Amino acid sequence: MKHPIQIEGTGALPFLSAAKLPVWEEKAIKALKKLSKGTGKGSDFLGWMQLPSTADPQGLQNIYNVCDDWSRDVDLVVVIGIGGSYLGAKAVIEALSPPFAGGPARSPVKMVFAGQNLEEDYLAGLMDLIKHHSTACVVISKSGTTTEPAIAFRLVKKHLYTHYGAKEAQRRIVAVTDPSKGALRKLSKEEGYRTFDIPTNVGGRFSVFTSVGLLPIALAGLDIEELLAGALFMEKDTAREHADNPAIRYAVLRNALYATGKKIEILVTYHPGLFYLVEWWKQLFGESEGKENKGIFPAGAGFTTDLHSLGQYIQDGERHLFETVIRIGEPRRKVIIPHEPKDEDGLNYLSGKRMDECNKMAEYGTRLAHMDGGVPNILIEIPKLTEKNVGALLYFFQKACAISGYVLGINPFDQEGVEAYKKNMFALLNKPGFEDQGALLRKRLGLGL
Ligand code: PA5
Repeated sequence: MKHPIQIEGTGALPFLSAAKLPVWEEKAIKALKKLSKGTGKGSDFLGWMQLPSTADPQGLQNIYNVCDDWSRDVDLVVVIGIGGSYLGAKAVIEALSPPFAGGPARSPVKMVFAGQNLEEDYLAGLMDLIKHHSTACVVISKSGTTTEPAIAFRLVKKHLYTHYGAKEAQRRIVAVTDPSKGALRKLSKEEGYRTFDIPTNVGGRFSVFTSVGLLPIALAGLDIEELLAGALFMEKDTAREHADNPAIRYAVLRNALYATGKKIEILVTYHPGLFYLVEWWKQLFGESEGKENKGIFPAGAGFTTDLHSLGQYIQDGERHLFETVIRIGEPRRKVIIPHEPKDEDGLNYLSGKRMDECNKMAEYGTRLAHMDGGVPNILIEIPKLTEKNVGALLYFFQKACAISGYVLGINPFDQEGVEAYKKNMFALLNKPGFEDQGALLRKRLGLGL
């Protein structure tokens, strides 16, 4: 089997001191040792590391049982969740779906996502949609109290109970939540919903290989065992305490670049289907590393589209950036550029070529141009978009993120900073217990008391 993750650092090395690289490698190996032994910061949240090798056949069967049950009469599944309870499933489903199809080719149902924003028109549109379908709902929240998914679930639940009656609505709702605590666990017990546990030692952004990711991905018709097989390969491969471990290599390159003042990493893809994978990566690295006034800012770009928007800045703007490109070796389909008898657009020199050759040459040319402009480049290649390779890629990023976080000296597994906006929002919406804070904030905002 070809290694699913190839990392090339030749576009970064000219920007780094060769003498210092072994020092970074030593730091990264030390970080990996801490992870493996569970002696680093946040070690209560290392359950994600063994998810692929400990995947429980009964857990998978329970997922297949929901798929079988709903395949009889459901044609729309609303997946409710935010952040780590949303982005992993969304990233995998989008990556493996043909464009324009609205879901994977094998998808038995239409999958839509809600609870990841507070917008009124979005939710009104969702309510219009679910009325015209035979709808079921997967609600995912570890805490069970996150505002965005909780409100979306109120609305969908109300529709299901009104439209189908309590007993049938209960069959059409599945909750993925904490094994014992929280509002969603309590409600599920009272209402008799089928439930899946989010292990207490797995944080949201590291949960794609729990039922948080696996249930929606399986409902979309994708092969979760292949996804786990790819992740398992990387679980073993990234456990190696060696500089050629790809997770170590990536962590070394990005931390070494950060130390030279490259404070923004742009994850670039030339494949529109990877848009949400970039979003998932942004959350993984942003929420894990952005702490104690430190951390690389994770940004994303889709080329060649964004070469016509961000391209100018990347080429000529402030030199605090580096790029990491995700390349897919082989596309799944073939499109040949047609010959045009009049050649009015002057593109006949391309006729007969595959689109992928154009895309790859755009990528090569852009990498060189950006390097010449002072933007270092890391290349990550997977051979093809398959469940196995996507599973490998997600696991690789999680491991690299954890190693990077320890190299940086922070706890990659907490997210205290996310609470600040929530407290202000609660206060402004008059949540009981937040009255004094609400008055202070309204004064600051000039909203009156
Ligand atoms: O990574 C995380 O922990 C967060 O992004 C959470 O997943 C997100 O805030 C959703 O939380 P919950 O699942 O409790 O609703």
